[in-house]
This record gives sequence, structure tokens and C-alpha cells, in this order.
Amino acid sequence: MGKTFAVIGDPINHSLSPNIHSAAFRELNLDCSYIAYRIPKGELEEGIESLKKIKIDGFNVTIPHKIEMMKYLDKIDESCSLIGAVNTVVNNDGILKGYNTDMEGFLEPIKKKKINIANSNVLLLGAGGAARAIVAGFAKEKAKSITIANRTIEKANDLVEFAQKISLNANSITIEQVKDTAKNYNIIVNATSIGLQNESSLISLDGINDKTVVYDIVYMPLNTDFLKKAKEKNAIVIFGYEMLLGQAIRAFEIWHSMEAPYNAMKKALLGGF
Ligand code: ATR
Repeated sequence: MGKTFAVIGDPINHSLSPNIHSAAFRELNLDCSYIAYRIPKGELEEGIESLKKIKIDGFNVTIPHKIEMMKYLDKIDESCSLIGAVNTVVNNDGILKGYNTDMEGFLEPIKKKKINIANSNVLLLGAGGAARAIVAGFAKEKAKSITIANRTIEKANDLVEFAQKISLNANSITIEQVKDTAKNYNIIVNATSIGLQNESSLISLDGINDKTVVYDIVYMPLNTDFLKKAKEKNAIVIFGYEMLLGQAIRAFEIWHSMEAPYNAMKKALLGGF
């Protein structure tokens, strides 16, 4: 019998996940379908019940349910407990197991480009939910240090505490304090929402060079001001869509226990822009 998958969240109508996963099913001739299902905030419990009724095989979770979904899991993968949020669920006869593929998704394009994370000094802009998965990723890959810059310093301090708990050398600063220090870092990541509305980048990239890695997790628009500035300096740029693709590939592999068709999924994702 065919399998059914979904992405739940609100808003959900612009989600690229149905296209990406459907392209993978077509490529591999899998008898599966993937739907977008809008579940408003406050209606998660009923939403999950209806997904169980239709015997959903698995689903992705997005804004605003990534943290609340933790309550409804029967089993929690380590990736999920570490980050405290869930974005991928497997339904095994009504038993829900949660995973978080954001960390692996974030790391995937860095590894693909054979960038050496160990011995890197990292500058991370932002201290929200996405930043937490990124900190976990840099801890796993044993970065040398991470500086977390955030508008609200308290949130940066909380994230520093998390980083230190998982043995990553970390410190916090405000966005203003970054000033002209971008050149002191090997990898610079934007994990704030700045860029989504075409805003100019929060920091100056003066002094960086063709060895500096500049990664923006904002994927809409594809080309943010932050990445445009990085390209002017001939930096190694990583686009937000690459993280999105990375987390979708990891979710596919969890659900189907087979290698994901990378090129077909990438083509479907880029076709959505
Ligand atoms: P996500 O789950 O995508 O990480 P989030 O948890 O809402 O989303 O985090 C958004 C991040 O963007 C935060 O680091 C936020 O900074 P604050 O912690 O100070 O709110 C950052 N951000 C949003 N708007 C910003 C702005 N105008 N200037 C600077 N940082 C901003």
C-alpha cells in the first residue's frame, strides 16, 4: 500500500516540502504522496489525532509547532532532545518518534564543500531556534570557538550556556559589537530573520577573503544582501536553500531508509523560486 506524508504548520501554503518530496517519489518510482496540512496554533492535538486516523506514515513540523510538538511524541531521537524542538516525525502504528534534521541539514552543504570545521572560529548572528540547531552542529563537528552575536544579549548568553554544556568554546556579543571584526572568523553564519524582507545585512564583511565561508540560512529570497556582499569579497558562499535541501534529504532518509535522490530534490526546490 502507498505511504502518505505531510508537512504541518501555519502558514503552510508556500511550503516547498511537498514539491521536494514528490520529486523524490517520482524519481525513485515510490508509491507515496506528500501533502501540506494547515494546523493553526492551539489546534495541534486535534491535528495530530486526525493525522493518526488517516494513518500518516510521517510528517514534517514547521512554524509554530516545532517546540510544542515535543509533548506529543512517544519516542524522542537524540537530535531532537538536544535541540528541544522537532521537525520530523515517524508514525509507527500510532507510536510517534521525533527527530530534528535541522542540525544535519545545516552541516550537509558545509561537508559537501569539504570545509574544515574543526579549527574554525565561527561568528553566528542570531540566537533563536535555528541558531540553537546550528550551535549543536558546530559542537558536534568540534569547531574551535563560536561567537554568538545577537540584538538581545540575554538570548545570546543563554545560547552560550548551551554551547558550553556541549563542550563548545563560546562567547556572546551584541550585533553592534561585531563592528569590523568579521575578518577574524573562518565561518560567518546569519541565523537571524534579517534578509527575508530584503533588508541590508546586519554587519559589515570588510576584510574577509576567498577563504572565508559565509552562510545565510534565509532562503527566500535566494540571494540576500548578506550573500551578495560576501560574493563581492570572493568568499565561499552557502545559500539558505542548501540547508533546506539538507534537512529534507535527511528526513527522506529517516522515512524511507534509502539514499535520497539529491539532484531531483534540488531541481524541484529551485523550481519553486
Ligand atoms: P528562528 O526560529 O528562525 O531562529 P526566532 O527564534 O524568532 O526564529 O529568532 C529570530 C532571530 O532573528 C533572533 O536572533 C532575533 O534577535 P532577538 O533575539 O534580538 O529578537 C533576530 N532578529 C529578528 N529581527 C531582528 C532585527 N530587526 N535586528 C536584529 N536581529 C533581529
